[in-house]
Amino acid sequence: MKVTLSVLKADIGSIGGHTLPSRRVLAKVEEAVRAEVGRLLLDAYVFHIGDDIVLLLSHTRGVGDKEVHALAWRAFLEGTETARAEGLYGAGQDLLKDAFTGNLHGLGPQVAEMEFEERPSEPFVVLAADKTEPGAFNLPLYLAFADPMHCPGLLLSPEMRPGFRFRVMDLARTERDSSVDLEAPERLYDLAALLRDPHRFAIAGIWSRRHGEQAAVVSTTRLRNIAGRYVGKDDPVAIVRVQKIFPATEELAPPFALLPFVAGDTRGSHHLPLMPVRANTQASSFFCVPMVCGLAFSLKEGRLSEPVDLFADPAWDALRLRAMEKAQDMRRQGFYGPAMLPMEELEYTGIAERLRELEREFG
Ligand code: 13P
Ligand code: 13P
Ligand code: MG
Ligand code: MG
Ligand code: MG
Repeated sequence: MKVTLSVLKADIGSIGGHTLPSRRVLAKVEEAVRAEVGRLLLDAYVFHIGDDIVLLLSHTRGVGDKEVHALAWRAFLEGTETARAEGLYGAGQDLLKDAFTGNLHGLGPQVAEMEFEERPSEPFVVLAADKTEPGAFNLPLYLAFADPMHCPGLLLSPEMRPGFRFRVMDLARTERDSSVDLEAPERLYDLAALLRDPHRFAIAGIWSRRHGEQAAVVSTTRLRNIAGRYVGKDDPVAIVRVQKIFPATEELAPPFALLPFVAGDTRGSHHLPLMPVRANTQASSFFCVPMVCGLAFSLKEGRLSEPVDLFADPAWDALRLRAMEKAQDMRRQGFYGPAMLPMEELEYTGIAERLRELEREFG
C-alpha cells in the first residue's frame, strides 16, 4: 500500500524564553490533529524538541496535499491562540504569513514529506532539531549513507553496494528551489565540497541507486528567506527509512556522536556542537546548545507503532557530557572568531546596522 508520511514542525511559543511549549499548547495542537485520525489521516504523533512542535502524520493523500497542510496550519494556529492566551514567549514565531495559501512551504513551518510503497516491515526514523540551521544534518547523513567507515552496510549489503543519490539544495538561491543530484560514491568529493558549508547547502533528499526508492527527505526552509530578517532558527526535520536496502538504525545514529559544530544556539548566532537528546527535551539554558532528537517507528498500513527514542540509551549520556565540554570550550571565547557566526550570517541581526554606524566613525 502507498503511504505518505508528513512531518511538519513549527515554533509557536514557549515558557520563560525559548525553552519548551506549554502542556496546554501541546494538548491543543494534538487535539486538532487527533480529530482527523480515521478521516484525513491514518495516524498521527505529536512531540516537541526544545520549543518546536513536531507533527508526524501518516495518510494516503501524497506529498504537498492541501488538506493535510491546512490541517497542520490550523493545528499550529490553534496552538498559537493558546500560547497567546498564556502569554508564552514568541507566540506564533514560525508562522510568518497571515493566510494559508494551499501549502505550508514558504509560510514558515518546516516540511519533510515522503510517499512510498510500504514494505512488509517499514522501519523509519524522524529526526528533528532545534536551535540550529537547515544544513545541520548534512554531515551525519553523508556519513550514514556514503562513508563505509561509518556505514558498514555499504560493504556488507549487496543492496546498498551501488550507493545512494543525494539531492543538495542551494539555500542562497531564494527566487526558486534550486538543487543538484550527485551520486555517491563517484561524486563523493563534489558532495563533500557542497556539504562542508551547511549555512548555504543542505541535503534535501537521498535515494537508493539500486532500487530507486527514496531513503530520506529533509526540510530546507530558511526562515529569513521568507521574513527577510532573523526571526528564529530554521532548524530541520527529516524522515529516514532504515534497514534492508537502507542503512540500519545503528548505522544512522552513530554519526551524530561526532557532535559536529553547527550554527545556532544563543540568538541563533554562534557555532556549537549538535547535541543528541531525547525527544520532548526542553531547550538547554546552557547557551541554548543546538539539539537533535530521533524517534524510530514501525509502520503497518499507515499505522504507527509506539516510538523508540534513538538517543535515550546510556551511550548517549556520555556523549551529551562531551557535547557540553565542546560547547564550553567554544563559548569561553565569547564573541571571538568562529565562536560567533560570520558576518554574512549575522547580517539579518542588529550588528550589521551597528557596524554601518561605526564605519562613519573611521577617519
Ligand atoms: P537484520 O539482519 O535483522 O536486518 O539486522 C541486521 C542489522 O541491522 C544488524 O546491525
Ligand atoms: P528559537 O529559534 O528556538 O526560537 O530560538 C531562538 C534563539 O535565538 C534562542 O537563543
Ligand atoms: Mg522560540
Ligand atoms: Mg525553536
Ligand atoms: Mg527551532
